[in-house]
Amino acid sequence: RSHFSSKKAFLGKKVLITSGPTQEAIDPVRFISNHSSGKMGAALAEAFANQGAEVHVVLGHGAIKPQHGNVHIVPVKSASEMYEASSKLHQNMDICIFAAAVADYAPKDIAKEKIKKAGEGMTIELVKNVDIAASLGLKKKHGQIHVGFALETENEAFYAKEKLRKKNFDLIVLNSMKEAGAGFQLDTNKVTLFSKDGSEHTSEVVPKTEIAELILKEIKNLPLEI
Ligand code: CTP
Ligand code: CA
Repeated sequence: RSHFSSKKAFLGKKVLITSGPTQEAIDPVRFISNHSSGKMGAALAEAFANQGAEVHVVLGHGAIKPQHGNVHIVPVKSASEMYEASSKLHQNMDICIFAAAVADYAPKDIAKEKIKKAGEGMTIELVKNVDIAASLGLKKKHGQIHVGFALETENEAFYAKEKLRKKNFDLIVLNSMKEAGAGFQLDTNKVTLFSKDGSEHTSEVVPKTEIAELILKEIKNLPLEI
């Protein structure tokens, strides 16, 4: 739309981005985590900042750090720390992007000392983590925009649309798993964007910086709730 066509389309907007993996401690030297690199989150942070936004990235440990004067980093490790940090920012944000790969479960107890090897097998009891996007989705204010991500290996579109609805997203970005050149750690990706109003757009395999631009464009095209 014409009123968004300027290069600084997000001037004055406040954007929260969760990015990277979470680490769920088992003991002082071990944790459960995943392969998220934070590349998509970093590309989004830089794209928003380049278009004038004030960006706050709640960043999992070891993830790629976005580089821009208008990007503020809040480093976290666990899902619960990510939730705490995101909750503090949420009320003041215009746009929230949930790009982090949050561990679904964490060890029930964190051992105080390094767990010593014993016996032929071992079991770690896990408990469900807080769903950051869903929890903040319940607190979404009028006019706030929430964007989520999904990565599925079966019934991709169905599950993505279900998450869009259940987590109160305005837009969800489905990562393609089956495409060469798409996924974790890579610099390229192929995505389908599903918006709340029912529109659907599939990209080619393109650099994550270009995916970020597509997501920003789609956000600009979301119907404004007045
Ligand atoms: N998400 C989150 N907090 C969690 C889990 C997920 O904020 N504890 C967010 C992710 O950042 C992403 C979206 O929710 O934007 C979907 O994540 P995904 O792992 O695909 O969804 P889950 O609800 O965990 O479902 P699944 O069983 O498929 O893992
Ligand atoms: Ca999950």
